[in-house]
Amino acid sequence: MTKAIYPGSFDPVTKGHLDIIQRASKIMEHITVAVLENPRKVATFDIEERVAMLNLVTKTCPNVTVDYYRGLLIDYAQNKNINIIIKGLRAMSDFEFEFQMALVNQKLKPAMETMFMMTNNKYSYLSSSIVKEIASLGGDISSLVPPEVYETIVAKYR
Ligand code: PNS
Repeated sequence: MTKAIYPGSFDPVTKGHLDIIQRASKIMEHITVAVLENPRKVATFDIEERVAMLNLVTKTCPNVTVDYYRGLLIDYAQNKNINIIIKGLRAMSDFEFEFQMALVNQKLKPAMETMFMMTNNKYSYLSSSIVKEIASLGGDISSLVPPEVYETIVAKYR
């Protein structure tokens, strides 16, 4: 079975993330969306909230499972017998760091392959940070996040 992991902080999930999940789930037999800690970021939503939001937006995808892990991505993937990491690329600015992470993960676990999917053009500007900035300043995020999680995100800033 072709299994892949789509890791991220998903703080919170955006329409850009969901687009990658849906497209990847058509190529792979199973996708695990894994909420992991990014040591370079302070999270706004706790892990349970992020998992709950991802479960809501993927509930109609039969071959997608949501999980979380506090530790190294490759340790989680190894435990689950997954050798493919899916990452989304939005712009050249993403590339350098994603390239470094892909090489580090392969160094730590040589069988691990990272596959990059280009963002859908309509989401190339979109990130969780942008969503949070707009929401925190009272702007309209309804076109940026899946409708199922809109209220949870807005409520965080009320
Ligand atoms: O959505 P993000 O913040 O770009 O996702 C980054 C993430 C969470 C995938 C990355 O920080 C990660 O893999 N964290 C787990 C810890 C780890 O394995 N670090 C080594 C990778 S170089």
